[in-house]
Amino acid sequence: MTDVDYARYDRIRAVHWTGAGLSLIDQRLLPMQQVWVVCETASAVATAIQNLTVRGAPAIGIAAAYGVVLAAQAHQDAAGLVSIASLEPALQELAASRPTAVNLFWALARMRRVLGERCAVSVLEQEAQAIEREDLAAIRHMGQLGASLIEPGSGVLTHCNTGSLATAGFGTALGVIRAAYAEGRVARVFNTETRPWGQGTRLTAWELLEDGIPAKLIADSAAAHLMKTGQVQWVIVGADRIARNGDTANKIGTYQLAIAARHHGVKFMVVAPSSTVDLSMPTGDHIEIELREARELLEAGGQRIAAEGVQTWNPVFDVTPGSLIDAVVTEQGIFRAPFFGAA
Ligand code: MRU
Repeated sequence: MTDVDYARYDRIRAVHWTGAGLSLIDQRLLPMQQVWVVCETASAVATAIQNLTVRGAPAIGIAAAYGVVLAAQAHQDAAGLVSIASLEPALQELAASRPTAVNLFWALARMRRVLGERCAVSVLEQEAQAIEREDLAAIRHMGQLGASLIEPGSGVLTHCNTGSLATAGFGTALGVIRAAYAEGRVARVFNTETRPWGQGTRLTAWELLEDGIPAKLIADSAAAHLMKTGQVQWVIVGADRIARNGDTANKIGTYQLAIAARHHGVKFMVVAPSSTVDLSMPTGDHIEIELREARELLEAGGQRIAAEGVQTWNPVFDVTPGSLIDAVVTEQGIFRAPFFGAA
């Protein structure tokens, strides 16, 4: 295990708390424009989560926690105290912003616990900062744990964006790839486009380019063919929610990558902080899968590309069975079947 040069491999932040507002790099505009959106209310944060200004399970949780702080600042009394009753509407609005990533609900539950019936706004602010700080520490640790599984000279394939932009920094699956590359273990990196929204094309390819890690973007539909050529030994992905038996909700397309990986003898790794593990779910069967608007499929770059009248079905996550997953890496260790307890 070598020390990772984070100045080289972790250059951008998705979320920046100013003390009176939450600055978010607008991920809808990257990589062509770097525009920061400042949210001054919990409602603005909920909208930013819903419309993907900020995205990626850990980053969503962190943003929501700061959203609670903004609501608390708006409702505090002269002594700087805030009550649960006054924050309930904001907590509910934030919880309704996206359904699949459990980090959102985990972060809101943590803020609720600290709040109790009533607490000082400064205590809530410290809790949100702790959530962000702990995520970064967890992610750096799991980066090194995951990298230890990769044989030198390996090729890796990743899906969606799981990097600095999706987390407090460095990244989950991308953190493992970064750590493994820094240790000289990774010879080839491939990343998918991740249609329809293009998290891979727009965000992951850009993060890897900024790091100077040589990588190739592939069409989502090229993945099985890539595996057949023998160029990749690991598929490495993040997660939005992991059930006790290892079933993993992640960006749509993850499931078919896992099937193709098993068929070709390619190993499959899921990397996520323990805040993504939902111990209340024995299996992935009841994980709510977000459906998003038709526009994501009907348009490319804001231009309509499908004929008027075309119907769509746009689930943006799927659930990969734990049986197709070789390792789940969290900051608490490397977990293999039966993962976090039998179903
Ligand atoms: O719809 P998104 O972009 O929020 O989906 C993101 C993913 O599916 C990521 O793989 C997951 O959140 C893990 S990010 C570290």
